[in-house]
Amino acid sequence: SPTPAVVTVTGAAGSIGYAALFRIAAGAMLGPDTPIRLRLLEIPSAVSAAEGTAMELDDSAFPLLRDVEVHDDPKRGFDGTDVALLIGSRPRSKGMERGDLLAANGQIFTVQGRAINQVAAEGVRVLVVGNPANTNALVAANNAPDVPAERFTALTRLDHNRAIAQLARHSGAAVKDISRVTIWGNHSGTQYPDIFHARVGDRSGAEFAADREWLTGDFIPTVANRGSAIIEARGASSAASAANAAIDHVHDWVLGTPDGDWTSVALPSTGAYGVPDGLVSSFPVRSVDGAWQVVEGLEIDDFSRKRIDASVAELESERDAVRGMGFL
Ligand code: NAI
Repeated sequence: SPTPAVVTVTGAAGSIGYAALFRIAAGAMLGPDTPIRLRLLEIPSAVSAAEGTAMELDDSAFPLLRDVEVHDDPKRGFDGTDVALLIGSRPRSKGMERGDLLAANGQIFTVQGRAINQVAAEGVRVLVVGNPANTNALVAANNAPDVPAERFTALTRLDHNRAIAQLARHSGAAVKDISRVTIWGNHSGTQYPDIFHARVGDRSGAEFAADREWLTGDFIPTVANRGSAIIEARGASSAASAANAAIDHVHDWVLGTPDGDWTSVALPSTGAYGVPDGLVSSFPVRSVDGAWQVVEGLEIDDFSRKRIDASVAELESERDAVRGMGFL
């Protein structure tokens, strides 16, 4: 019978954790043939809540779920992990400065990167969801020198899925007939959702992008500000859609992207499209034999270049800030 996969979820007692765990245990992330061993990692004050979630996971009697453990020690939570979803992070509290936020998270992702380096499985894949996701992934990767950098990724799949949904709504095309959308840069308001290379049914995304008023006045800001719009409407941040995107991300990483399509992933740059080496920035990627490959050779016009550069500049300033604090 197939070897079970060890899946660690940090922030397991939080909203995204709760929305993700049951679907992971049901096989939505790694497919119907891979048994799952869950490791829930929380901070001590939330261990009891995570234990409650573990009881509910038991009570679901998922055929694929082998066991569930709850930990507050990263060295135990990441022991032998194959897939690590780093969802827990320090949220911005009222009056907190950006520097304090980067410092609090720099600390968390340093500790977690080191633990992954020491105890994770050989082929570990890491997805950072907790914000600031790109820079948290950069810090974790830098603290795990024995793990290949490309195994550290950050989530822009939610932005990618939001872009597809907006394009479907605007064009009247079905979601399944939209492909080759790209999110570039940071998972933040500066991200650039690019439809110039997209396919929209039998039309090209460039045709829709030609309507610059819609593109710059509606599409781009709607996608980039969707997180705030959800908070405004729901009184809480996106949870189920974020969990869904995290599951999509790992699913495609392990099982492959559909033929003819690509997706968006923030991963350590190797210089493609002029993005400085090492920055964890979002690119168009395909998953080939279980590894991400940046889609090369897309033509980037001035309109797109300006927007990619602005988001990359923000990533550089976040990197410089955490470097100044000694996390890199
Ligand atoms: P939440 O506040 O409901 O849950 C966060 C959980 O993380 C809490 O249970 C907390 O105890 C735990 N936690 C904090 N520090 C931890 C640590 N060092 N180790 C283990 N667990 C720790 O938050 P929610 O809604 O689940 O969101 C989680 C993160 O995901 C936030 O940073 C949020 O900004 C981010 N996010 C990212 C998205 C993306 O597309 N990249 C989309 C939506 C949210």
